[in-house]
Amino acid sequence: MKKFLLFGMVLCFSTTMVFSTGNKDTGAATTDKYKIGISMPTQSLQRWNQDGDNMKKQLEAAGYAVDLQYAGDNDIPTQVNQIENMITGGCKALVIAAIDGSSLTEVLKEAKNKTIPVIAYDRLLMNSDAVNYYASFDNFKVGTLQGSYIEAKLGLKTAAGPFNIELVTGAPDDNNVNFFFGGAMSILKPYIDSGKLVVRSGQTAQAQAATPNWSTEESQRRFENIITSVGYGPEGVKLDAVLCSNDSTANGVTNALVGAGYTKDNFPILTGQDCDKPSVKNMNAGIQAMSVFKDTRTLASRVVSMINSLAKGTTPEVNDRNTYNNGTGIIPSYLCDPIVVEPQDIQKALIDSGYYTLADIR
Ligand code: BGC
Repeated sequence: MKKFLLFGMVLCFSTTMVFSTGNKDTGAATTDKYKIGISMPTQSLQRWNQDGDNMKKQLEAAGYAVDLQYAGDNDIPTQVNQIENMITGGCKALVIAAIDGSSLTEVLKEAKNKTIPVIAYDRLLMNSDAVNYYASFDNFKVGTLQGSYIEAKLGLKTAAGPFNIELVTGAPDDNNVNFFFGGAMSILKPYIDSGKLVVRSGQTAQAQAATPNWSTEESQRRFENIITSVGYGPEGVKLDAVLCSNDSTANGVTNALVGAGYTKDNFPILTGQDCDKPSVKNMNAGIQAMSVFKDTRTLASRVVSMINSLAKGTTPEVNDRNTYNNGTGIIPSYLCDPIVVEPQDIQKALIDSGYYTLADIR
């Protein structure tokens, strides 16, 4: 069992923190270990299961006890209750991936009152001064990788065009969407403005391209409507590319496109994010061009090292102190690096690295 410094005070905001503790470090049973609360939004998407598992494994290996909770299927009251229980149940630090980044302000006040450090995980927790650190990927870069991919594959710098594109992004209450969509639009918007890229549905605003809860069914429904109203199809209006901010929405678009008769021989360039198993299978089948890979193991180990620092009373390492303002100020952040995975990269990035087995993606 680790020996931690036992101070009763947490200094907030990027200064040195030490877990507040009322317990003595007896060095004995699991229940006496420093407990870390991990609150994840849903079990219905593969990535959050992996995130939760990776963090639990790594934290337990480092000697912590872990209270890992999933908020049903993106159920906000459940997430609030679970966090409340973590606070009253003696957790010494909280790691939270919010369903709605702005819905936890009240419960986070309780954490702050009890001087429990809070790390926003992957998605920034908004409008709360209880948030001490943010660990995520470079979310703007995720968007620029997707936008640049479409730019390169369509040859937008030199080709005459025009090309038809549609835009699909994620949940309006997820702060990451501003960065994913903003990053992609920083590349694509000049082409839309000049008419080289045409969004025939007319749905160019982030709010119009949004998908509540990042739901596959919602994105499929919206895309079926777009296909019908514009007249896209293998024999109809040509669709050259679809910007999808992640894999769950890309899967919905894929279902709609396959339903409309598209095959690997005429599939539009389709982007994604997460390298979820269904999308990796679709990449292998030639119907999703790319996905942005964010290795959840890297993010988990970053959080574990933040927690180790907090437990030891040292300042966690961050690499960004400018980008993420949650409405109460800039939250010191560590942003991991996302990478593009195309079909030819699957072996090296996902199999050789031990992220998946071949059986996972067959
Ligand atoms: C995450 C993505 C994920 C999406 C849907 C975002 O906040 O950054 O990796 O695909 O949520 O769960």
